[in-house]
Parts: sequence; C-alpha cells; structure tokens
Amino acid sequence: MALVTTTKMFEKAIEGNYAIGAFNINNMEIIQGVIDACAIHKSAVILQVSGGAMKYARPTYLRKMVEAAIEDTGLDIALHLDHGSDLAQCKLAIASGFTSVMYDGSHFDYEENVRTTKEVVDFAHSKGVVVEAELGKLAGVEDAVSVSAADATYTDPEQAVDYVTRTGIDSLAIAIGTSHGAYKFKGEPKLDFERLTLITKKLEEAGLHNFPIVLHGASAVDQEYVTMINEFGGEMKGAKGIPLEMLRKAASMSVCKINMDTDLRLAMTGSIRKVLTKNLGEIDPRKYLGEARTNITKLVEGKITNVLGSTNSSK
Ligand code: G3H
Ligand code: 13P
Ligand code: ZN
Repeated sequence: MALVTTTKMFEKAIEGNYAIGAFNINNMEIIQGVIDACAIHKSAVILQVSGGAMKYARPTYLRKMVEAAIEDTGLDIALHLDHGSDLAQCKLAIASGFTSVMYDGSHFDYEENVRTTKEVVDFAHSKGVVVEAELGKLAGVEDAVSVSAADATYTDPEQAVDYVTRTGIDSLAIAIGTSHGAYKFKGEPKLDFERLTLITKKLEEAGLHNFPIVLHGASAVDQEYVTMINEFGGEMKGAKGIPLEMLRKAASMSVCKINMDTDLRLAMTGSIRKVLTKNLGEIDPRKYLGEARTNITKLVEGKITNVLGSTNSSK
C-alpha cells in the first residue's frame, strides 16, 4: 500500500462521469475527518497541501499522517502540492514524497507560464510525479497572493490546447467563474459551462482524448456553517459559494478533480466556535477538535454522494 498518482483515478473518473474530491489538509483532524468519509464510501481521494500548509504542518508530518491513513483504510490516496509557486517548492514536495504537484504560473504572462511550467513538468516526470497547471486566473486569495475580480481572466479554449501541448502537463486547472474563498458571488452564481464544453472539444480535436480538467475554488460555502459561525460570535456576512447542482454538472462533464478548502475551514471553525461558546469552561482540545473532525466527515460524505459521485471509486 502506497500513495498513488492521479493518473488512474482520473481515467476512471472521466469514464464514469464522476470527479475526485481534492481536499486541503493542514492537520490530523482534517486528514482523519476527510478519510473517515472516504472510507465509509470507498472513495478515492486527493489530499492536497498548499505552500502555507507545508510551512505550518511540515511536509514530512503531513506525508506520514497520509501514509497512516492509507495503512488504516487501504484507500487510493494521492498526495498533491496545491498552487506550487515555483520549481523549488515543487522539488521540495517531490522530495517529501508527494505524488502530484500543481505548478501555478497563472500570474505570469503566457510565454513565461509555458516556460516555467515545462521546467516543472520535465523535473516531475523524471521522478514519476504528475503535474497540474493553471491557465486563466481565478479571483480570490491563496496564501499571500490576492487576485481581484477585475484581474481574473477566464481560460481561452484555443490557448488551452497550445498550453497542454507545449508543456506536457497531466491535468489542466481552468477558470470559468469559480474563485477561492468564502465570497464567490455578489449576485447570482454563474459558471461559464459553454467555455468548459469548448475547452473539452478543442482538446479532443487536438487528439488530447479525455484530458483531465480541474476545478479550483469549488467550495459550496454551506449556509449551515456560515450560520453557525455567525451565531457563535463570528462574522461572515454575505458568504456565498458554488451551488451544488453546478458542481454536480461540472463533475459529470470533463472536470475530474474538484478542489475544496473553504468548506472544511467553515465546518472546522463553526464547530469549534459552537463547542467553546456553549461550554465556556471547556479546555480539552479533543472536545472541540473532535466535534470539528466529526462534522468534516459529515461534510465530506455529503460531497461524495451529492457532488462528486465518487462512491466505490477506490479499488
Ligand atoms: O487555493 C488555496 C487554498 O484554499 C489554500 O489556502 O494557501 O491559505 O493554505 P492557503
Ligand atoms: P475554495 O476556496 O473554494 O475551497 O477553493 C480551494 C482551492 O481551489 C484550493 O486549491
Ligand atoms: Zn486553488
């Protein structure tokens, strides 16, 4: 039993019209919360680590905990670097045992994005590691990098073919209207599904059959947890995510990896706020972190059955 890459996961997901959940991990409770849900539904899963999470929890601790999850469950699990900032960070993740890296050069101009992405691909492939990369620019905040809605750009379908062909990446993260964080839409939620269809068509026409597409910024921002946070001393006014039916539609199309972090943050924060507010003398971390872990499991179970459709995808 070992960590796997995403290659087989994606092949099966595209053929089965479902998607694999990619959940951001920062500590043991998040890992166990996600994995317990995947074990119940025998779902393959991608556990992903941002640069910030790598600094916070340290890559070796994260890898060893993820290996423990595999030993515990026997599930197909890929360990992925989320939004790798440069070749050095991708190399660190690969040296730490990650099986997949995302390189995010979407802030560069196109030619620089192609050049730097290709460098990462050449290195990663020489180590048997797969690469996801982004074309187009999502609005929102990742680590210290913030992209305003005005600076966000949707993925160009023709350019997508050129980018995939010239870089040799294994999966493509696209921008069709999703964004990072808890405030995704001011008005009505809207995703550009025509663009997704066109990107897939152009890739097919270029001989890139069933090329894996990744959707970032795909948290639903469940109102249950927004309300819980607001009720127990927090302030998250106007938080809004991607409607479930849109996510399900994306999963049934060419999107085979759906990234979610904010939803886990909301579930964890809401749970902790609730326990601590209701029990002012509570000082046992197992009580509030345990509640958070249980609620993350419930949340991920909902994702697997209502959004991803990935039940029984592991083995
Ligand atoms: O896409 C960004 C993820 O939500 C990770 O966030 O960089 O604050 O860990 P982070
Ligand atoms: P959310 O902020 O919607 O959870 O997106 C997470 C993400 O895309 C991580 O790469
Ligand atoms: Zn992202």
